[in-house]
Amino acid sequence: MKEIFPTPPPLVQNQFESVRELFTKNVVPSYGRFDLALDHGTGSYVFDVAGKRYLDLGGGIAVNCLGHAHPAITDALVEQSKKLIHVSNLYFTEPQGRLAAELVKRIGAGKVFFSNSGAEANEGLFKVARKFGHDEGRFEILTATNSFHGRTLAGIAATGQDKIKKGFEPMMPGFRHIPFNDLEAARAAISPATVAIMIEGVQGEGGVTPATPEFLLGLRALCDEKKLLLFMDAVQDGHFRTGKFQSFQRILEGVPGGEKFLPDGISMAKSLGGGFPIGAFWIRAPFSDLLGPGTHASTFGGTPLACAVALKIFEVIEKEKLAENARKLGDWKLNELQRLVKKYPSVVKNARGLGFMLGLELAEKIPAFAASEKSAAIQFTNRLHAAGVLVIPAGTQVIRLLPPLNLKPQEAGEGISKIEEVIKSLV
Ligand SMILES: Cc1ncc(COP(=O)(O)O)c(C=O)c1O
Repeated sequence: MKEIFPTPPPLVQNQFESVRELFTKNVVPSYGRFDLALDHGTGSYVFDVAGKRYLDLGGGIAVNCLGHAHPAITDALVEQSKKLIHVSNLYFTEPQGRLAAELVKRIGAGKVFFSNSGAEANEGLFKVARKFGHDEGRFEILTATNSFHGRTLAGIAATGQDKIKKGFEPMMPGFRHIPFNDLEAARAAISPATVAIMIEGVQGEGGVTPATPEFLLGLRALCDEKKLLLFMDAVQDGHFRTGKFQSFQRILEGVPGGEKFLPDGISMAKSLGGGFPIGAFWIRAPFSDLLGPGTHASTFGGTPLACAVALKIFEVIEKEKLAENARKLGDWKLNELQRLVKKYPSVVKNARGLGFMLGLELAEKIPAFAASEKSAAIQFTNRLHAAGVLVIPAGTQVIRLLPPLNLKPQEAGEGISKIEEVIKSLV
């Protein structure tokens, strides 16, 4: 690494060290953090405390859909905060009602509940499922191997990855895992207690794996046949990231029967607020009134401030045709990554994904990584940081590109050439 990226001068290291020291002393060490302290950003770029610039292709893990410091978000925050930041959900507010209507308009007949995060949105759907099956004694929810559904107790029980559960047993009962994209296994797993199935359209943390059209359509038919609710966790792959509002709309494009597909519930968060915390779940009619007054709540769910920001984001995405941008530029980037896979098979093994949710899978044995205990994904990400690019590892072998939806063509080009530069250093 030294030969191509020199060690930063002491001044830079000292500024970073003083921030790290604050964390070491005061912040719960539950995150494996990179040696980077970020200070500010603009558009697709962020700057660290020493002023070094990074092209942010990680987007805060699929959150910063309009990049950093977007004036429309700043204006929405300022304007709404002058009127009303928060009131209790004991009252009606127009921004929450309008945002719910925007979501219903884009998905289908149903209703929306607002939360603060993705995990909390999923918790709400789990409660809908429990309520739906309650009188028949059905409560079990099937989720996929390698899925990710959040870090709450129900979230880790729902998540199909052992490493997320480890140390927190006993798991909350009522969740079982089925292999992803395997319809027959799903059918075989259904028990008399099963009430719902939840999947991601594109598994994110699990390594950027899209569902097949057959799996989606087959699950819909299976759920109808067995009277199960079909939920999609769109926390990471939703909000136009794949080039359509929902990933299933992109996956099923042009597929016979695809236009009629609709899950029964969808959880959302991340890009919905572009960095301002907000989550939501949509639940299809006729299930949308299952959670009646007094059955579910969240103090901060759907504050006027969060909803005003989310409404503004919809406006910008539509006005600037950012879904089309994610699709076109995403397709271009995927092609480029696939070119790199062909050119450097000893370093990169596979490239996959949809729109601006792309994964680059690294080869198993990269000699330059052998000396370190750290995973290939972490070591590759560290090298990209040194080259001035942020990406997000997924598991041990995959790096994810989840850039802002308004990424520019020349920024996409810059990202690809820096990635190629790092790959070349590993050949
Ligand atoms: C698919 C999916 N579901 C749920 C979550 C949890 O969201 P949050 O971290 O906002 O609770 C995530 C977070 O990465 C996610 O990717």
